Amino acid sequence: MINQADKILITRDVRLWYGQKEALHGIDLDFPKKGITALIGPSGSGKSTYLRALNRMHDLEDNVTVTGSFNFNGSDIYAPTTDTVDLRKKIGMVFQQPNPFPFSIYDNVVFGLRLAGVKDRKVLDQAMEESLKAASIWEEVKDDLQKSALGLSGGQQQRVSIARVLATQPELLLLDEPTSALDPVSSHNIEETLMNLHDQYAMIIVTHSMSQASRISDRTAFFLNGSLIEVDDTRKIFIDPSQKETQDYISGRFG
Ligand SMILES: Nc1ncnc2c1ncn2[C@@H]1O[C@H](COP(=O)(O)OP(=O)(O)O)[C@@H](O)[C@H]1O
Ligand SMILES: [Mg+2]
Repeated sequence: MINQADKILITRDVRLWYGQKEALHGIDLDFPKKGITALIGPSGSGKSTYLRALNRMHDLEDNVTVTGSFNFNGSDIYAPTTDTVDLRKKIGMVFQQPNPFPFSIYDNVVFGLRLAGVKDRKVLDQAMEESLKAASIWEEVKDDLQKSALGLSGGQQQRVSIARVLATQPELLLLDEPTSALDPVSSHNIEETLMNLHDQYAMIIVTHSMSQASRISDRTAFFLNGSLIEVDDTRKIFIDPSQKETQDYISGRFG
């Protein structure tokens, strides 16, 4: 259980339809202000659908209906007055495919700040350096800041993507299978990066890797067929889950 005062996000009875098809069947899930929550479950269980609902990514698609309550630090994510650009700064997202823009490393990292109107070179320089350091890639790129981000390896691009998200000072990071397009060494670097951010940010990571969930997360939520089966401390989920479906999944009986 998370203490009420330590929660950054409280979601209740989250339902989502793609057209007529209900893909999420009433999810109740809360997240602490710091640390990593893993969302696990077989392909098609609704992990990405739920994650994308948290920063209103579905607003960009036609024919999607979302209901339920989403209380983020006391504000309603789906309130008509919510500015989604501002929301996506506070709730940043990292995708499976590293997605640097075809600009320099520097311009990638400060992109969001420039969009927000920051022009002061000193402010940009400082935010850029801090973000690259926080994303554990500063040492590798500090002499190449004006080079294209597209020239970096996939793992480096993913850490630049993380730095770009961190630069706008989010409170919550959403990561959708951020290592599944990467080689094992790059994946390991991303895991280390996330663990280094553990004390400063709330993070929610979708992963199909149970070993990754058990290595890096504090809490794990198990999704199946659009429902949340259970959520608990990661150790409890992997050693002594309460639900038979969870037990079957973690012991490799399906998925
Ligand atoms: N854009 C979409 N349109 C229609 N159905 C979708 C769309 N995206 C996902 N789905 C369906 O919603 C369900 C959950 O998918 P998803 O959230 O992507 O699962 P996961 O991330 O756990 O693999 C699946 O049945 C999937 O086919
Ligand atoms: Mg997915």
